[in-house]
Amino acid sequence: MEREVGHDEVGLQELDLYINIYIQKNMLSVAILAAGKGTRMESSIPKVLHKISGKSLLQRVIDSCVELNPEQIFVITGHKSKEVQESIPDNKKIQFIIQEPQSGTGHAIQVLCREVKKNEGKLLILNGDVPLIKPETLNKLLKLHNSKNADVSLITTKKKNPHGYGRVFLKEDFIERIVEEKDCNKKERLNLLINAGVYCFNWEKLSKIISTLENNNTQKEIYLTDTVSLLKNSLSLEIEDNGELQGINNRIQLAKCEEINQNSIKEKHMLNGVTFINKASCSISEEAEIGKDVTIEANTHIRGSTKIFNNCIIGPNTFIENSKIGLCCEISNSTVYDSKIMDHIKIGPYSHIRPQSTISSGSKIGNFVEIKNSQLEEESKVNHLSYIGDSIIGRSTNIGAGTITANFDGQTKHQTKIGKNSNIGANTVFVAPINLGESVTTGAGSVITKNSRDNSLAISRTKQVNIENWKKKKPKSN
Ligand code: UD1
Ligand code: MG
Repeated sequence: MEREVGHDEVGLQELDLYINIYIQKNMLSVAILAAGKGTRMESSIPKVLHKISGKSLLQRVIDSCVELNPEQIFVITGHKSKEVQESIPDNKKIQFIIQEPQSGTGHAIQVLCREVKKNEGKLLILNGDVPLIKPETLNKLLKLHNSKNADVSLITTKKKNPHGYGRVFLKEDFIERIVEEKDCNKKERLNLLINAGVYCFNWEKLSKIISTLENNNTQKEIYLTDTVSLLKNSLSLEIEDNGELQGINNRIQLAKCEEINQNSIKEKHMLNGVTFINKASCSISEEAEIGKDVTIEANTHIRGSTKIFNNCIIGPNTFIENSKIGLCCEISNSTVYDSKIMDHIKIGPYSHIRPQSTISSGSKIGNFVEIKNSQLEEESKVNHLSYIGDSIIGRSTNIGAGTITANFDGQTKHQTKIGKNSNIGANTVFVAPINLGESVTTGAGSVITKNSRDNSLAISRTKQVNIENWKKKKPKSN
């Protein structure tokens, strides 16, 4: 009996071992190359920290890779590495590897293979300057790689203008070599099939040849692309040039990527029932949600996690960030930050709604009005030339033109509270803290420094004096 149990234990241990080997062989690791300076950007900001629709190139590549649920993500940094590392929010899976000096993409991977003990499983390598790559496309590459048990497989596409990219030369079904633009002869330059800078390697095989790479080329750099000639089973996954593979080496390509990304965001909204009057002049963040029958007028920018509900007209010339806009609102020539605008509200032209404001349904905010950290209840109106800060305005209250809440005493901010159904005369100044009851009226031009009860009239101004028969003295004639 005992011996049989012993046999079983050995069997289980072996099984465990096989499972471990299997898992390690199939383990997916990711390496993102982000150490280069980006000389052609002519910038003091590292290239991978330049942004597309508000998100850095590097963060975009990381986000796409995270979708694949890899075991670990190595980000290779070098130029301004502290800045680059600090730009990435904490993530247990991300490990930074420092490449110093930056002697080329192949050198970056030499450093990685040295620093990481286990060079096992699949290693997906991505250039940090190919920001629009989609997780679905990466999955296609992994699928091809697995099904053909490749040593390396990489994404290629045919570009009408392949200038600047490495050209991929095939021999039958395999990649024979990749020649960088600068190393191409005239004939080689005519090849339109380019390397997108996204590779999947059998890491073990890569680690065996990586140290043999040399820098015998025009740029005197160690090229990762030279590995394809050293490995046997090198495969190309050619996909249609749909903009996703656009690399960024200069500001022209940065603008091109921004345009590609914006077009796809706007197309998604148009297919969902949003009208753009002048599409090219507008920008929309990826996180923004826009309801049906919303019209976005020219030169309108929707940023951050803004949500716009159905039937609104937004713009022209409007900027909205991290805000909620309810049903059937009209906002023109205005700016709204971090605020909540409920239903059936008109804002603008030329209003500025600053953070932490709530404008309740049926209200109206008119021209040259600034609202900050305030709550306006239903049907309230602030139509002209006002500053309302740190205030609570009751329902159906009308704030006369030129009204100001003087909320700052030089040290602290104070609150103004005005009850419902009140009528605030033009040019009233509230010296906060101040608390007015309901149905209060203030006299035009009053400086209000005291609280007042429901249904009262608060007035504070010198009485008008009329001096009869008063004329300006005429100057004496000589
Ligand atoms: C690279 C490819 C080219 C491909 C193109 C796709 C090589 C040799 N060439 O060219 O075949 O068509 O991308 O966009 O790989 N980096 C480092 N360390 C370094 C150098 C670069 O981490 O020492 C990083 C950069 O930060 C960048 C990426 O690697 O994110 C690619 O480098 P880049 O100089 O842009 O290569 P390309 O000339 O575009
Ligand atoms: Mg590049």
